[in-house]
Amino acid sequence: MKTPAYIALEGLEGCGKSTHTTRLGQHLNAVITREPGGTRIGTELRAILANPDNVEMDRRTEALLMAADRAQHMAEVIAPALERGQHVVSDRSIYSTLAYQGYGRQLGTTDLLAISQWALRDRLPDIVIYIDVPTDVLNERLAKRDLDRFEREGADFFARIAQGFSELRQADPERWIVIDGTMPKDDVEADIHTKVLARLSQ
Ligand code: TMP
Repeated sequence: MKTPAYIALEGLEGCGKSTHTTRLGQHLNAVITREPGGTRIGTELRAILANPDNVEMDRRTEALLMAADRAQHMAEVIAPALERGQHVVSDRSIYSTLAYQGYGRQLGTTDLLAISQWALRDRLPDIVIYIDVPTDVLNERLAKRDLDRFEREGADFFARIAQGFSELRQADPERWIVIDGTMPKDDVEADIHTKVLARLSQ
């Protein structure tokens, strides 16, 4: 792939995505960004979405706020960077909507895919890195944090999301790279870097 790439990192909370988004982005001299929250408007949407006081938020509202964040992110950050010739490395993407709202909130993926593709003007990530960590390890990591509205959900919610990510990967294996997130951080970083470089040089 000789053209600039849109690369997303995905996984469950606590898997190390944010650290490895930064590290990979630095290796590639890419624009480093995230969803929700990669723009000023997105930061405001992220605060609404994460706020544990927003207990009454309907799941469709949640899905549409994620899509609104994504539309702004594509228009303001992703598309301009790719047009300038720069790679983009994003902490989460459309696949989080499919896994969290589609499977986790049980909205299904058909409408969400259509809404997200519309928000993205059909520009999906070229490469998706999935950092795979078993849920019991993640629970230990989360026990050390202040929890947001999503992180307060129960084990069933996260089990559905993990299953969702697994089905999404299997349906589209060319796009996904799975990384063992239980290795030491520097080994995870090296593995991601090697596999992404191999993909970029194809
Ligand atoms: P973070 O944990 O990567 O900071 O993301 C914030 C939360 O938002 C996380 O619990 C996953 C959730 N999320 C969705 O539910 N749908 C989405 O489309 C995105 C991008 C994130």
